Amino acid sequence: MDSSADGRVVWITGAGSGIGRATAIEAATAGWRVALTGRRAPALDETVAAVQEAGGAALVLPGDATSDDVIRASLDRITATWGRLDALVLAAGLNAPERRWADHDPATFDEIVRVNLTGPAHLVTAALPLLRASHGVVVFVSSYAAWAFNPIAGVAYSASKAGLSALSRTLNAQEAASGVRSCHLCPGDVNTDFLGHRPQVPSDDARAAMLQPSDVARSVRFVLEAPTHVRFDELVVSPVSQT
Ligand SMILES: NC(=O)c1ccc[n+]([C@@H]2O[C@H](COP(=O)([O-])OP(=O)(O)OC[C@H]3O[C@@H](n4cnc5c(N)ncnc54)[C@H](OP(=O)(O)O)[C@@H]3O)[C@@H](O)[C@H]2O)c1
Repeated sequence: MDSSADGRVVWITGAGSGIGRATAIEAATAGWRVALTGRRAPALDETVAAVQEAGGAALVLPGDATSDDVIRASLDRITATWGRLDALVLAAGLNAPERRWADHDPATFDEIVRVNLTGPAHLVTAALPLLRASHGVVVFVSSYAAWAFNPIAGVAYSASKAGLSALSRTLNAQEAASGVRSCHLCPGDVNTDFLGHRPQVPSDDARAAMLQPSDVARSVRFVLEAPTHVRFDELVVSPVSQT
């Protein structure tokens, strides 16, 4: 572990797998203390074990990251345990195989928008006082589909991830004076469990050509470790094979 982060604290949602877990390990390796949220406690425990193996400290905050009660209780735990919050990495996300207007289901639409867009908006709102105090940084884990329109990403997914761009830009426009910075992070295809939401699940060969979670985690670390006068408004990271 290197100690360049000086005990700074990052709260990661979707921390039990994929990009969230890889980010927890990468941040812990860089000396960040990591708070971890997801609904599956055993998956979070596996992330904790990996963080500890990297020499890091983790706080487990299981629950639904879209619940205002969970958000409030988690911030209270972070404050009571570490007394500060320097960064958010909002990786909790959802898609569904039904992606076309022809098979549009309003309940599924609502759920995807709630997890991908409404939840992050509520979480940032609640965390803002702590982020102002630390001149903190927010990383919205959005999608390539929010940067380059992709008709097969899905109605709700495309709309919700595109909405993250607006959240991030308004945050930067309105909170610059308080030193809060936000990044709209747009990864291309990443080899994670998320691919199971696709109508056609990619083959092992296709997965091998994609970004790996650790590739995205290194990008997140780059954003987290920028000096406080530096902001990465948007970062697109994709595998060479991305079309
Ligand atoms: N994989 C890709 O190709 C790709 C590309 C671009 C962007 N992304 C984005 O990257 C983010 C991370 O996905 P991933 O690829 O790492 O896939 P993943 O391994 O499936 O991670 C998604 C995580 O979100 C968590 N989650 C879902 N709903 C939640 C909720 N209500 N509260 C708390 N946690 C919740 C899940 O944990 P629980 O089920 O335990 O809650 C899971 O750990 C997503 O936002 C996704 O849209 C992925």
